Formats: sequence, structure tokens, C-alpha cells
Amino acid sequence: MSTSPRPADAPVESTPDDDLPGGRYRARTVSFVQRSGRLKDRQQRTWDALAPQFVVEPPRSGGRTSVDPGYVLDAAEVFGRSARLVVEVGSGQGEAVAHAAAESPETDFLAVEVYTPGVAQTLQRLRTSGSTNVRLMQADAAMVLGTTIAPASVDELWLFFPDPWHKSRHTKRRLVTPAFASLVARVLRPGGTWRLATDWADYARQMREVLAASEEFDVDLDAPRFAGRPVTSFERKGTEKGRDIADLTAVRRA
Ligand SMILES: C[S@@+](CC[C@H](N)C(=O)[O-])C[C@H]1O[C@@H](n2cnc3c(N)ncnc32)[C@H](O)[C@@H]1O
Repeated sequence: MSTSPRPADAPVESTPDDDLPGGRYRARTVSFVQRSGRLKDRQQRTWDALAPQFVVEPPRSGGRTSVDPGYVLDAAEVFGRSARLVVEVGSGQGEAVAHAAAESPETDFLAVEVYTPGVAQTLQRLRTSGSTNVRLMQADAAMVLGTTIAPASVDELWLFFPDPWHKSRHTKRRLVTPAFASLVARVLRPGGTWRLATDWADYARQMREVLAASEEFDVDLDAPRFAGRPVTSFERKGTEKGRDIADLTAVRRA
């Protein structure tokens, strides 16, 4: 566990898989860029008080959002019990994970987020709700899914409103690619569910294309809204701008 905040790192080049034919998507993880990781005084106090309990500090392999590929998370040790495990990738301010953790105390939640103030804000939510079934890891999700999480150990993986990278010269930074789908397939148990949501039509199209092409999932490319997903500030902004919300699910084949 950690006691000191780690600012978000530069993009990490970590994902081992190949691009789609034609090179439309890159395999390397460049889904985030360096942002100020400075915490306000109140956030720093929250961090200092709660990080030892909630933040898992993995051994690093270089950058501050990297994870040593030799490290495998022992979920039973980290949560102090064996329970159903939900992983949220890009948990942002922690709205979804804090809500779900309070609703489902029998389930364990691992939130993976690179942005330090987002992790601090999530800690603040956990303090308010009193939930103890959440752990946070400040790391690049591609590395966490590639090596940190044991294969077939996750019951659900959530990816809600990933950065849309809407300018055409930036779409290569989007997280959902065939390579990323394979990483998700690696950690989900057979029958486990990957839930995705986006307010960006072109990203929804890309998600559908990636999921439809994958042989590792049974997919619902126009799924009903997941009842466990609260309206986050990102969703609210999208709706206010008149954008439709797309929900997708992909169930890991045996
Ligand atoms: C648009 S926000 C959405 C946050 C949240 N899911 C929600 O719906 O409110 C996307 C988040 O993903 C995080 N992120 C982007 N790439 C990531 C990666 N490779 N690993 C972990 N987090 C990442 C960003 O820092 C950001 O907080």
C-alpha cells in the first residue's frame, strides 16, 4: 500500500499485441497524457489518511504508472478475503466504483486510474460512504491487465466513458483496440462480463467493430443501460450536449 501520491506519467508503451491489419489502431498504450498530478491541500490530507488502507502500490518497472511485469496481484491478500471481483478501468473521480461498492459490500472492486487527483477524489468518496471493499491502483490499465491481474480471475470489467480522443489525429490513443480486448479476455473468467459505455458515436462504432471481430466474447453491441452505472459527470456533459449514450457488453467465452 502507498502513502505518497504519484503524478500521472507520460504515455506508457506496454501492450504486447499486434495492431489490426492495415494499422488502423496502435497496440501501444497511449490512452493518457501527462497531466498535473498536484493535489490540493484537502486532497493531500485525504490521501495521507486513506492511501495506506486503499491504495495498492505495485512494484514499478520504470515510469510511475508502470507495473513490474513480474508482479501478480494477490487479490485475497489485498482485500483480506476471497470474493467476487470487479475491475474498473479509468475510474476517474470514482463515482461508479464508490456507488457500486456501497451497493454491493459482498463484492470486491479494484479501480485502476492514472490520474492522481482522481484517485484522491475516489478516496474522499470512500471516506464518505464508509466502504472498505475497494482498492485503487494508480497504473496503466494495459499493464495491469497484461500481467498484474491473474488470468481468469475477474468477474466483471468496467470501462465507462473512456477518453474519446475525438480528433482524427488522436483516435490512435483510444483504449479499445483488438489488443486491449485480448487483455480484457485474459483477465475475465469464462462467463465474466466486460461492460462498456461511451457518449461518443465514433468511439461506439469502434467499440462495436473491435468486439464484433473478437472471437473471445459473445457480444451485445446495443445493450440496455447497466443498472449499476450511476450518471457520472462525464455522462452528464455528453447528454447535455445532445449525445446518445451507447452501452455494450461482452461475455467471455469458455
Ligand atoms: C473520460 S474519463 C472517465 C472516468 C469515469 N470512467 C467516468 O465515467 O466518469 C477517462 C479516465 O480514464 C483514465 N485513463 C485513461 N487511460 C488510462 C489507462 N491506460 N489506465 C488507467 N486509466 C486510464 C483517465 O485518466 C480518465 O480519468
